[in-house]
Amino acid sequence: MTSRPDEVSARSRIDTTVAHPARRYNYWLGGKDNFAADRASGDAIAAAMPGVRLMAIENRLFLGRAVRYLARQGIRQFLDIGTGIPAPDNTHEVAQRVDPASRTVYVDNDPIVLSHARALMTSTPQGATAYIDADLRDPDSILTHGDLDRALDLTRPVGLILACVLHFIRDDEDPQGILDRLVAALPSGSHVVASHATWEYLPAEAIEKLVAANPDGRFVARTGVQFGTMLSGLDLVEPGVVSISRWHADEAPQPRPPVEDVACFGAVARIA
Ligand SMILES: C[S@@+](CC[C@H](N)C(=O)[O-])C[C@H]1O[C@@H](n2cnc3c(N)ncnc32)[C@H](O)[C@@H]1O
Repeated sequence: MTSRPDEVSARSRIDTTVAHPARRYNYWLGGKDNFAADRASGDAIAAAMPGVRLMAIENRLFLGRAVRYLARQGIRQFLDIGTGIPAPDNTHEVAQRVDPASRTVYVDNDPIVLSHARALMTSTPQGATAYIDADLRDPDSILTHGDLDRALDLTRPVGLILACVLHFIRDDEDPQGILDRLVAALPSGSHVVASHATWEYLPAEAIEKLVAANPDGRFVARTGVQFGTMLSGLDLVEPGVVSISRWHADEAPQPRPPVEDVACFGAVARIA
């Protein structure tokens, strides 16, 4: 099978010498699409925060439950920003199990995710998927992209997915403004699914090590209160802002892990 030109160009942009969030996350999930720098960074974080692999696994389970919830509410279009390297139960797969006509647009700024975009283009014939190579920090580049326009009807409710990506937006990059811009573009009845890592449960020594492992400050841990504040203009779906392991926990594998080990908050909120 020949590669698409954007996949070829993506591969030439991949820098394997520095750790990238998508590849580090893939390493924690047990995937093979990562390099030595990603594994070294992943191990340094895991040394201070042993629950980080569990967080990654629980985040995928949360994403699946949240997308299934939205699909059962009648949402048939999804905008998944910060998609990550494909993993079992990608958003369109979960949604299309509920309704094969569901449509999903994926967005990520990492060329390695673009190089795997083909694996996200496995839509049912009735539905559709698209992939946009863009940056969450420039929400208008996503909202005005022709592929978004072709795949989604922004006059009908959309499920906006921001799973474990807002913690890569620094405060000086205005995460609240970015979220507000995306929300403003979506009609009433749309929903936001978001998850966000926290250092709230960690001892000071562990936080010191994590700060050292994050020299460029690209990762920003926030508290549950700070994450909840970001969503405060929206109608939170029960049970509100909780550990990702506790969101609709009755549908998750049992027993549920302790919230301190998972160290990640999640929520689903409706746009009025
Ligand atoms: C931890 S992974 C989460 C993947 C997936 N959302 C999930 O929950 O399983 C974070 C993803 O966000 C992407 N990302 C980070 N900053 C981004 C940005 N500014 N714009 C778009 N994607 C970004 C990374 O490349 C990576 O694929």
